[in-house]
Amino acid sequence: MQNALGAVQSLLVLGGSSDIGAAIAERLVPGGCGTVVLAGRRPEAMEPVAKRLQALGAAVTIVNWDAVDIGGHADAMKAAWDAAEMDIDCVVLASGVLGDQSHLEDDPTAAAELGVANYAGPVSTLLHVARRLQEQGHGTIVVLSSVAGERVRSSNFVYGSSKAGLDGFAQGLGDSLVGTGVDVLVVRPGFVHTAMTAGRDTPPLATTPEAVADAVADALTAGRHTVWVPGTFRYVMSAFRHLPRPVWRRLSARM
Ligand SMILES: NC(=O)c1ccc[n+]([C@@H]2O[C@H](COP(=O)([O-])OP(=O)(O)OC[C@H]3O[C@@H](n4cnc5c(N)ncnc54)[C@H](OP(=O)(O)O)[C@@H]3O)[C@@H](O)[C@H]2O)c1
Repeated sequence: MQNALGAVQSLLVLGGSSDIGAAIAERLVPGGCGTVVLAGRRPEAMEPVAKRLQALGAAVTIVNWDAVDIGGHADAMKAAWDAAEMDIDCVVLASGVLGDQSHLEDDPTAAAELGVANYAGPVSTLLHVARRLQEQGHGTIVVLSSVAGERVRSSNFVYGSSKAGLDGFAQGLGDSLVGTGVDVLVVRPGFVHTAMTAGRDTPPLATTPEAVADAVADALTAGRHTVWVPGTFRYVMSAFRHLPRPVWRRLSARM
């Protein structure tokens, strides 16, 4: 249960080794989040995150969760709640795969697998999460979407479309949960310097995992349902969304 000041006291990070997910946890723990469950497919990649969170004072457990193992999601979420040994106030979906667009265009199987990792797997997982939060009667689901899904570019349409689907799912889920005590926060970062983007050219408005974490923490406190990082993207994407297709095609080809 969030404390009297509305601070998160228990957190589940889906994609526990994610740079952004870890930054969100590291931002919330000093604010009173004493229990963190890291869920992912590679325990060895989550252990350094767990150590950092423990050093900040949190009790941390690691559980197995693979976004593409849809049949295993019910058990994985049960394991996460069992590990927390309490209600979970906040669940952050921080997993995702960017992929290489030209490779994905040449390998339809890999493209479809990316769709499962970024969209179908989260759909299944978050429906299990939503049910558990409804049973608790409270909680917030934070979904790492992307500006790449707000208007899909030809240069990364496989990843972008998976994020568009996830973003739409998260909005609909949030609307369906109004009045239940469960909220959904959709987070739309631009380019963030993380393992996912390492080695890629830095575009304008690039940001950091810590800036995303600050924006998420502020949005949780304010009870917002959507946040762009940096905030300028709210206005940039509003303009981009309304550009005619031929104009967008030419403009986005240079992004
Ligand atoms: N970086 C950006 O520019 C940016 C911008 C907008 C949105 N986002 C979104 O923000 C989220 C976090 O990204 P990040 O930048 O922090 O990237 P990251 O550091 O590369 O983290 C990605 C995470 O996804 C996990 N993952 C991948 N496939 C998985 C699967 N099948 N099952 C479980 N976990 C899986 C990875 O786990 P492993 O350790 O097992 O690989 C890793 O923990 C993603 O959803 C991403 O799409 C990122």
